Amino acid sequence: MIQHMIAVLDLGSPENTRIAREIRALGVYSEIHPHDIAPDALKAMQGIRGIILNGGENRVVDGKCVDVDPAIYDLGIPILAVDHSSPGHPADYPAWPEEDSEVLDQFLHTCKAERNWNMDNFIADQIELLRKQIGQRKVLLALSGGVDSSVVAALLLKAVGDRLTCVHVNHGLLRKGEPEQVVRVFRKEMGANLIYVDAVDRFLDKLAGVSDPEQKRKIIGKEFIRVFEEEARKLEGIELLGQGTIYPDIVESGTKTQKSIKSHHNVGGLPEDLKFELVEPLKQLFKDEVRACGKALGLPDDMVYRQPFPGPGLGVRCLGAITRDRLEIVRESDQILREEFKNAGLQGKVWQYFTVVPDFKSVGVRDGKRTFDYPVILRAVNTVDAMTASVEQVDWPVLSRITERILREVPGCNRVLYDLSPKPVATIEWE
Ligand code: XMP
Repeated sequence: MIQHMIAVLDLGSPENTRIAREIRALGVYSEIHPHDIAPDALKAMQGIRGIILNGGENRVVDGKCVDVDPAIYDLGIPILAVDHSSPGHPADYPAWPEEDSEVLDQFLHTCKAERNWNMDNFIADQIELLRKQIGQRKVLLALSGGVDSSVVAALLLKAVGDRLTCVHVNHGLLRKGEPEQVVRVFRKEMGANLIYVDAVDRFLDKLAGVSDPEQKRKIIGKEFIRVFEEEARKLEGIELLGQGTIYPDIVESGTKTQKSIKSHHNVGGLPEDLKFELVEPLKQLFKDEVRACGKALGLPDDMVYRQPFPGPGLGVRCLGAITRDRLEIVRESDQILREEFKNAGLQGKVWQYFTVVPDFKSVGVRDGKRTFDYPVILRAVNTVDAMTASVEQVDWPVLSRITERILREVPGCNRVLYDLSPKPVATIEWE
């Protein structure tokens, strides 16, 4: 099916993503492109029905005033110019006004754009495209259990079945129950070829005594590649590699205004000499669309609506040199926090919440005896882009219940603290 499309050209607006999402919400596919895209390239885009010139304050990009190539006006494609201004940072923009949605809706009528962008069509199209790309060949996928890799796995499984092999590396830094969930959902319930690699000792041995956070990240990232590579080399005849690239990854590196947003790299880059052709079926989707896709493919809510989780996992929440006893305190307390947030209706409302265990002890008293144990720090923040974050004002009774449970159920812990620091000055993670 030819999918109609509206191209949003970035003329310095912080609103590119919002406008593209709004158009998609109105049922028409939309993509963001740089302002200096060649008119011929625009004309050649399949299904293009309209162009939006999306200007920021004074149309400034990288300190310079910009405009599009005037030949764009002669392409015979309807154009809508939008200019935004705000009293301060992008954060000051008011909520998207209803009148603006009406203007977009009207523009889509003018463009005669067919409203066929929805998850069922997307899934049907992707299955057809994946079958075409993959043919009789085999695909390998590093399945972390995160939203993106899980949705890629479910989609590939539907498209090519047992020509997909998933590798799940348990590096010992995952949350409680995660490796078991990946095995249960993909191997048992969905019937996927899943190789489960227990690399816990290997990672923890490599990390022993290492206290510098960046060094810890490097070791985890490198070791992950090594383990995955070893598994890949054991398999024969695999030419393709599935990747959970999503649209923001592409937008952030592809347009002028938004390229500086990304701050972290995920674990999972692969060595050059493993020559794979990439399969990236989610590269058109925003995060909420990825979740909708996962849901439509039958993945459980716990997997689809997960909060963001850093590649190095609990490794950066067990502060300083990682020890097994403190790692268990992080894992157990994190589970209690997640359960109680769910009970309080905060799951899916608060952007990210987790526990942290520092590498010092404090004095306490239990059953009339002195204790010398670790504290647990609770963190719960809200953010739009992870560049700034505010602290969730969790109700006191919820905090008390979490504290009570951690002190009662987690051995080796005698104090619970709530971190009240916004980003900046703090960061979201402690390391
Ligand atoms: P910070 O601590 O920098 O975190 O305020 C911002 C967001 O990034 C996540 N984060 C990471 N994600 N690899 C990742 O994939 C990492 O090394 C990493 N460090 C932090 C963090 O959880 C938060 O969502």
